[in-house]
Amino acid sequence: MNIAVLGAQWGDEGKGKIVDLLTPHFSIVARYQGGHNAGHTVYVGGRKFVLRLIPSGILHPGTVCVIGNGVVLDPQALFAEIGQLEQVGVEVGDRIVISNRAHLILPYHRELDVFAETQRGERKIGTTSRGIGPAYEDKIGRRGIRVGDLGDPSPVVPLADVVRQNVEARNHLLHDSHLDWHVVLDQLLAAWERLRPWVRDVSAFLAEARRDGRAVLYEGAQGTMLDIDHGTYPYVTSSNGTVGGVCTGLGVGPGAIDGVLGVAKAYTTRVGDGPMPTELTDAVGERLRAAGNEFGAVTGRPRRCGWYDAVVVRYAARVNGLSALALTKLDVLDGFEAIRVCTAYRIGDRTVHDFPAELGLVSRAEPVYETLPGWARTAGVRRYEDLPVEARRYIARLEEVTGAPAGIVSTGSDRDDVIVRRESCVGAWLGK
Ligand code: GDP
Ligand code: IMO
Ligand code: MG
Repeated sequence: MNIAVLGAQWGDEGKGKIVDLLTPHFSIVARYQGGHNAGHTVYVGGRKFVLRLIPSGILHPGTVCVIGNGVVLDPQALFAEIGQLEQVGVEVGDRIVISNRAHLILPYHRELDVFAETQRGERKIGTTSRGIGPAYEDKIGRRGIRVGDLGDPSPVVPLADVVRQNVEARNHLLHDSHLDWHVVLDQLLAAWERLRPWVRDVSAFLAEARRDGRAVLYEGAQGTMLDIDHGTYPYVTSSNGTVGGVCTGLGVGPGAIDGVLGVAKAYTTRVGDGPMPTELTDAVGERLRAAGNEFGAVTGRPRRCGWYDAVVVRYAARVNGLSALALTKLDVLDGFEAIRVCTAYRIGDRTVHDFPAELGLVSRAEPVYETLPGWARTAGVRRYEDLPVEARRYIARLEEVTGAPAGIVSTGSDRDDVIVRRESCVGAWLGK
């Protein structure tokens, strides 16, 4: 079985934890998009690990971790992450495979990201300032530099020329400073020496792995609502975190995806700017943020919090063809007397059940809530039967209004604080 695990909201749903949990059932974990804007947190026995570029499967010895062509790769960020992992005893060694077709994030992409945000003023996206957008712009603009270009023995256009042209374009835009393209080129060539042993044709690697019967888990970054096509454009990231990204970002066909698991929190969060219909700016939002420790793993920014938005997750279920949900952070709702679920939006005098494409409509959307009774405690519960009846009712209602079964329920940040529902398709995937 080859399964995709991806975000069904605005990112930070707990993909890292779920990927880490499922990894023992797979021999390869493959990232298909995004870059080090992602921050995937995993707790193992009280120890915290934050993965950015490297798939969250890396914490399991023996698992091979793939960085696909759909990813934008900052070599310095990769080396720093490898260093951090090795410091805490996680050996990377030859366990990563990097696509020769992945595009590079260069120092000027980071500067251009910050520059573009300043230019946008009040309409800024609130990016992670990692250079993600500008790197994808160069890719789509057909002037990007790919990992494999660094080692191309007979390039059509010499690497030095491409670097010079790109740096000159950057110097033209940022006229108050001058970057020396020779420095950028030297850094790239030095990075290549280190990257070289890991670089391969990922599509061919995965095809061979599948022929050998090895199972692959496809790891998404960001979330459906941050997807460049299906998200709240322009307040999105610059790649496809939705399921189509698996095919384009790794070079596999749709038949290589046997199931799609959408990760969703039992409430909603968003970091960065852009509309979020269920956002709560009151004490309830504050309480969710404190209880859920809702601060960005990459930038430390406080996350905006609100009740579960079923319009969003229902939309994610459709766009991704979700087989099931992994519902995380149920424990964060512990102790609330009443819990609300947004089942539709009120926009003007209309009741809307489908997530609108027009940002103006999303910005005006008033959540239509229903209220369910709360419960005392779910934290650390590991058997479905042991959940309070109100929590089980809440999950059942979310399944109904979302249209996808909750195959996994997570009740704490640790690897073991989780319920896998054996009767669901997730149970079948894992052979339980
Ligand atoms: P990702 O980007 O989707 O991997 O999610 P992040 O790691 O950015 O954010 C999710 C946060 O929630 C992390 O700090 C996790 O440790 C934490 N987390 C995941 N699942 C649970 C859960 O069920 N309960 C609680 N309390 N925390 C969780
Ligand atoms: P994970 O994988 C949450 C948000 C940024 C900003 C927008 C664009 O941990 O879920 P970018 O730097 O990508 O150009 O920023 O997207 N964003 C995320 N929000 N989780 C993430 O990743 C995110 N990656 C980007 O805050 O609003
Ligand atoms: Mg995150």
